[in-house]
Amino acid sequence: NSVTDEVPGPKRTQNRLEETAQTVFRPRFGFENAPDTDSSLEQNRVWGRDILERSKTTEIGLQALKDNELSSAAQVDELIDSVINASKAWGKKSGAERAEVLRNVGVQIGLNRDKFLEVMAAEAGKTLDQGDTEVSEAIDFANYYALLAEKQEKMDGASPVPVNLTLVIPPWNFPTAIPAGGVLAALAAGSGVIFKPATLTARTGALIAEILWEAGVPRELMRLIKVTDKEAGKKLISSPAVDRLILTGGYETAETFRSWRKDLPLFGETSGKNSIIVTPNADLDLAVKDVVQSAFGHAGQKCSAASTVILVGSVATSKRFHHQLVDAVQSLHVAYPQDIESEMGPVIAPAEGKLLSGLTELDEGEHWVIEPKKLDESGRLWSPGVRAGVKPNSEYHLTEYFGPILGVMTAKTLEEAIELQNATDYGLTAGLHSLDSGELELWLSKVQAGNLYVNRGITGAIVQRQPFGGWKKSTVGSGTKAGGPNYLTALTDWESKESQS
Ligand code: SER
Repeated sequence: NSVTDEVPGPKRTQNRLEETAQTVFRPRFGFENAPDTDSSLEQNRVWGRDILERSKTTEIGLQALKDNELSSAAQVDELIDSVINASKAWGKKSGAERAEVLRNVGVQIGLNRDKFLEVMAAEAGKTLDQGDTEVSEAIDFANYYALLAEKQEKMDGASPVPVNLTLVIPPWNFPTAIPAGGVLAALAAGSGVIFKPATLTARTGALIAEILWEAGVPRELMRLIKVTDKEAGKKLISSPAVDRLILTGGYETAETFRSWRKDLPLFGETSGKNSIIVTPNADLDLAVKDVVQSAFGHAGQKCSAASTVILVGSVATSKRFHHQLVDAVQSLHVAYPQDIESEMGPVIAPAEGKLLSGLTELDEGEHWVIEPKKLDESGRLWSPGVRAGVKPNSEYHLTEYFGPILGVMTAKTLEEAIELQNATDYGLTAGLHSLDSGELELWLSKVQAGNLYVNRGITGAIVQRQPFGGWKKSTVGSGTKAGGPNYLTALTDWESKESQS
């Protein structure tokens, strides 16, 4: 028969996940507020518990948001003028001077790591391990863009001419790293910034702003706004004074913004529907771990998340793989992040509409391997779900969902699997698990996505090493990758050196 291994594997996957849960929350660089630099797991947990306790009543960001409301269209011109005015002096600074401020911001973000974890647990439902890597990513952005600011001036043939105004509109799913990355890139490039955090995670945004101001970024140069009037927001986004708009959000949002201003200079990182292919030549233990982390980290609410796993050939019928996957998913401890044991927290808002149907309704031919359950009245806490029998071009196959579900598809060959992987409108991240170099080559020659990962999870791109950005409908506008060598170049205007002389 077609079953490749009858004996369920030992519970190695579960152990690996437990190990991971214990090791990810440990000091990385910039962990200055932890009790001791070589702190033990137990000391870290004491530190973590204290943060989570504070998150229950935290007031971080409230005042800053209150002080920075944009509540009428009449305020927009003054806001724009003040930033443009402040950007003149900033744009004249050397790359090295701006880099110094950015590096200081990086240090300050590290020193305030506990505050970020506190406010993200409170408003984003982020568990400590998920929040922790995000804070590290923000520090990486500060240091990397500082480096690029220094390099920029030394380019041959052309000189950077900083623009005046960059508008930064980030998402709620990475409320520290993505906004910090956008704001810091624009500042490094010499631009003034208007920063509008996502409404659902605005307090984390306010904390970023406060830290930047304390670290030496002038308040008039980097303005935080909380938009309470739709017309004001539209007027700002459509203003011809906006030189660059860095947006991370849904594809439709990007299109709406472009309909307001046709020549919008957009840096849009938009939607994704990502999958991981697992071939019979994969390290199956590793594949299970990576699939589970990529699908259920932050309850699946990452544009980079694995929404589907595509099993090739005998993997589709491997009982061992099946048992390990089920074990691993069921071993996840689901709870609000205030429970330090939580490995998967809530969805950001009560599941409704598209997300709810994605969580609960099956298409023809599909069945639950693990049925997701609503765990509390709020509608935010769901146990993870795994649905199998997902058919090519079905709704689940093609639709982006931000929630804790994994769909299982099968393919006879790797070629067929790649076709399934490429069939969506999006192309953000894609994964392959295989130890066969021929398969890797085939995959690389055909896969259509911006960030490709082999024998690794498909979330958590590392600044500088894995510049982040997609293809197809996963990007709108410039297409330049964040955290990559060309990002600052694209955020600046350029003048040829000959024309200067
Ligand atoms: N940069 C994030 C990641 O790689 C997604 O935005 O997971």
